[in-house]
Amino acid sequence: MTSNAAPGLLLPTADFPTSFKWGVATSSYQIEGAVAEDGRTPSIWDTFCRVPGAVVGADNGDVACDHYHRMPQDVALIKSLGVDTYRFSVAWPRVQPHGRGPVNPAGLAFYDRLTDELLAVGIDPWVTLYHWDLPQELEDAGGWPNRDTAYRFADYSMLVFDKLSDRVTNWTTLNEPWCSAWLGYNVGVHAPGRKDFDAAISAVHHLLLGHGLATQRMKAAASPGHTFGITLNMGTADPATDTEADRDAARRADGMGLRIYLDPLRKGAYPQDMVDDLTARGSAFPVQDRDLDIISTPFEVLGVNFYFGQDFSGTDEAGNPLDEDGHPVVRAIPLDRPRTAMDWPITPERFTQLLVRLHRDYPGLPLVITENGAAFDDRATPDGFVADDNRTSYLAEHIAAVAAARDQGADIRGYFAWSLMDNFEWAEGYAKRFGIVHVDYQTQKRTPKQSALWFRDNIARLRS
Ligand code: FCB
Repeated sequence: MTSNAAPGLLLPTADFPTSFKWGVATSSYQIEGAVAEDGRTPSIWDTFCRVPGAVVGADNGDVACDHYHRMPQDVALIKSLGVDTYRFSVAWPRVQPHGRGPVNPAGLAFYDRLTDELLAVGIDPWVTLYHWDLPQELEDAGGWPNRDTAYRFADYSMLVFDKLSDRVTNWTTLNEPWCSAWLGYNVGVHAPGRKDFDAAISAVHHLLLGHGLATQRMKAAASPGHTFGITLNMGTADPATDTEADRDAARRADGMGLRIYLDPLRKGAYPQDMVDDLTARGSAFPVQDRDLDIISTPFEVLGVNFYFGQDFSGTDEAGNPLDEDGHPVVRAIPLDRPRTAMDWPITPERFTQLLVRLHRDYPGLPLVITENGAAFDDRATPDGFVADDNRTSYLAEHIAAVAAARDQGADIRGYFAWSLMDNFEWAEGYAKRFGIVHVDYQTQKRTPKQSALWFRDNIARLRS
């Protein structure tokens, strides 16, 4: 690899201590493939991908990046980037194919080998227990709106913890419960594709309960040095104008996107304004005795996934404050900025705003950026190289935004780029490429993009 540390995109050395963790992230369904091997059963994403029109190009994760068969080479690739941490997720239907009952040793063995392979080259494994691949059998039994799924998740978590906790210290329960609940059960654009508001609200509560139950059980079996946490996707929600309606829309968006997760997790209570909003539309979190004690079990690190910030309006394009079902309008007005291939605005200053706000409103909670990155319409040369100045700039601006938040006191301890390599981008299929490493899906050849070389060179420079 040649050096590509473009001048002008150097990161400020003083802002990042040597203890700061630099990493890359992936998730099981997005990269592994091998969906029917060694006893794995279908997840909700295998099923959803078969629904006509659900995924762009009718793509699916059957092969993905074939990581299940190429894991040692992929670990060598990660090592070549000079990062110290690799965040990956474990596929529940590999480890416990029926979502309950005994472990599947052959499936769990894959993560055992991955852990050993990483440690052998000095890379710290960062395990996420749930990155959206719920065993289909559990969805058939009601999925996350069903309370029992929370208990099933805790049991499954212990199967993984018992096997890997002698070597893995970093444990994340859930990735982005907002996506699981909201996109999966209310909007229906993610698996399992349901469109039921009350089911989504129940799913929120049971995801949080599952996090709490799993955290309690893992902590009871943990050794000093283990750290536990959850990863949330968070943006910023500002009013588009200073009208009462827009300010209320921003409050609602912030409530549904951030506070209904972090308030119960950190303060042991759902925010009263959100409870009141739900009551007004005849809905409620299905809270039972002691649930909030379980959900607010202390944890050591909050994973932050950030992509962009938004402004919100409380009226539709025609100026109406209520939608066709009679509910208050909460309309995202993405900022007028350059955009990524996802049509997401590029808003690094909102990243600083979010991180400083987390530090202020939820004090005493160390943060790690578990995902940040961008899809662009890459053009690869015949040998697979992508000169992605756009992605390199995105990363540089967002890492600088992390530095700015640290300067303002936010306790941020790591930054993991999304993603190690191009992969199955959920409802967008393979059309959207987030990797800092290019994947040729015909040959499975991996080629580091310019952004990967830039990331590597800057990490090396910050350490020197
Ligand atoms: C996040 C997901 C991750 C990836 C990025 C682009 O919401 O956690 O799997 O798809 O978005």
